[in-house]
Order: sequence, then C-alpha cells, then structure tokens
Amino acid sequence: MSIAHLLSKNFLEKEDLLQLLAAEGDDYEQLLKRALEVKLSVLDNKVHLRGLIELSNICRKSCLYCGVRSDNRKVERYALTDDEVLECARLAHQLGYGSVAIQSGERNDREFTDRITRLVTRIKEIDGGSLGITLSLGEQSEEVYRQWFEAGAHRYLLRIESSTEELYYKIHPRDERHDFHKRLECIDTLLRLGYQTGTGVMVGLPFQTLDNLADDLLFFRSKDVAMVGMGPYIPHPDTPLYQFANQIPAPDERMRLTLKMIAILRLMMPEINMVAATANETVDPMGREKAIQAGANVIMPNLTPNAYREDYLIYPDKACVNDKPEQCRSCLDLRMKAIHHEVLYNAWGDSVAFTKKKRE
Ligand code: 5AD
Ligand code: FES
Repeated sequence: MSIAHLLSKNFLEKEDLLQLLAAEGDDYEQLLKRALEVKLSVLDNKVHLRGLIELSNICRKSCLYCGVRSDNRKVERYALTDDEVLECARLAHQLGYGSVAIQSGERNDREFTDRITRLVTRIKEIDGGSLGITLSLGEQSEEVYRQWFEAGAHRYLLRIESSTEELYYKIHPRDERHDFHKRLECIDTLLRLGYQTGTGVMVGLPFQTLDNLADDLLFFRSKDVAMVGMGPYIPHPDTPLYQFANQIPAPDERMRLTLKMIAILRLMMPEINMVAATANETVDPMGREKAIQAGANVIMPNLTPNAYREDYLIYPDKACVNDKPEQCRSCLDLRMKAIHHEVLYNAWGDSVAFTKKKRE
C-alpha cells in the first residue's frame, strides 16, 4: 500500500503498523510530518510539563536492563526526606509547572505506601490543591492504588516494558517479583480505579522485533490508555542485559524507531498525552525536540535535588543531570519556541482522551 494511502486510513491494522514501522527515506519523513499535523490540529502546539521528583532508588526489583536494579551493588541508595519532596513540589509550583510526577524504585511495605499517601496529601495542600500529581511507583495492590487515588493522585504511569510475554521474560528475571500477568493486572486495576493511566515500552531492546513493537501499539489502543511514554533502550554496563548491547540497533536507528513509534501512535490515538522521554535526549542532543515534532506533547523536567541525580541513573549519561531546575525552565522555553511549540504553564495538562472519556 502506498504511504499516502496508509497515512489517510482511519483505522490502522497490524499489517499497516508493520509497514509504517519499516518506513524509510521519504516515507519516514511523510509519516513524521503527518503525525505532527495530526497533533497540531487536535492538541495545538502546547507542551505540558510534569516536574519529575525521583523520590528514591531503593528498589525490590531487578529488571535486567535497569541501572538501579536491586542486584546492582555499585549504586549508592538514597531516599529523599519528606521535606525534600515537599520542597521540590513547592519549586514546581513556583516555576509554574502545573503538575509533579513522583517516581521511585518499587517498594510495597506499609512504611513506604503510607508515606506516599502522606506526601500526596501534603502536596495537595500547596496552594489549595493546584498541583496535579502523577505517580510512578511500580506494581502495588488495589488497596494501595485506591488509597493514593483517594489522597489526590490522579495519574499513574506503569510501563508494560513489552506487551509480548516472551520478550518480557527475556528482559526480566523469571521469578515471583517479575510477573508479566501481574503487571497487566495492575494496568487494568489503575484504569478501573479511574486513574489517568499511562504505560509504555522501551524501543530497540535486544531480541525485540518490529512485530513486537506493532503489538505494543495495538496493546496501547486496546487498553485505551490516556498516556504513553516510549524511549530508546540505553544499555547500562552494570546490568545483565548489557552483554547483548552489540546486538541492538545503533543509537541513531533506535532514535528513528522511537520516533516512528511515537508518530504511528499519534495517528492511532490522536488525543492521548505522549511523553518525550529523557532517554531520547541521551541518544540524541535534539532527541526531545524530535520526539515533540513526531507527536509527543509532554516533557518531564527533573526537579530532583542535584546531589541525588547521579544515583538515579537507570541508564548512563542521562541528560540534564547537572542542570538546575531554574535553568531547565528557560532552556525548555527556548528550545520549544525554536520548534514552534509553546510550554503551557500553570495547567494540569490532562489528556484530552481521558477528559472526553470521563464525560461520556
Ligand atoms: N534504558 C532506557 N530506559 C530504561 N528504563 C529502565 N532502564 C532503562 C534503560 N537502560 C525505563 C523503563 C522504566 C522507566 C522508569 O525507565 O521503561 O519503566
Ligand atoms: Fe525495574 Fe528499575 S528495577 S525498572
């Protein structure tokens, strides 16, 4: 099928996705151009912000790709204090970021989960609840998800990492802590509880095929999620998956594949929120701009106190590790203006897809 025909289809089937994922040269350019047009017509040129707070790198899991996996003894473990977290949230508010995203290694103990409830409640007290709160704290029980929702968190990110069970177990240990079906259930629970639910995958993993990536896109659509985050996989030398680093596509190819995923998903789900992941910037200095121009509409500037950032290296050479939040703000403004986009301040930036669904 010609690219023009494919790009004008209302409903993309798996074979269409496979053809688009393989697009090269002029076809590739046209795919990205069409995705940008669709985004601008549906969501305008606005970019939403989520101030990212990396609460702690203490993690019970040991994902084979992740630099802060519990089996990596080289990492110094930290946890921000309540005051530090609240300070970050206040800073987010001062800078006009409408929302914060709290991310952490996974812990399921009561001390941790109650602490999050307390923190969400206290962040909600800032300026009469003006900050939106996204949580990204891994797999939890329904009870815990409910407790956090009732405290005021309204968005949750839990990447599926791969929607193909076979690939999932190639990048995670096969044990009771890493259970593909449990992860799927968590996504269903979050959706059922009423969270604006986000998921996502890494692109360019060892063993990952275009077929797997097409299934990931179909998975996002079948779950009707409100947000998706996708970024290139970046091999971390202190992880088991690093031994396959010579089998993955080169960084520019991983970047292009990520951009294709973003662009295709924008065509499939025009109204969702899509994050321009920091990992994009690690493989390409213009990576975040490129992701925005391929259809993403959310950026997560880091608010974690600089002293801790070196310890939250899920992958090496993370971008902006040494930037101060204030610098980040003006830098982002300029960078978005340069590509004719505008950062939206003082707004929650809910996904249009989610808001519409709620009204129905
Ligand atoms: N490269 C890219 N992304 C990674 N993540 C974890 N390790 C890596 C890596 N080496 C992503 C996972 C996880 C999110 C917090 O970071 O998708 O969900
Ligand atoms: Fe699972 Fe870090 S250990 S993503």
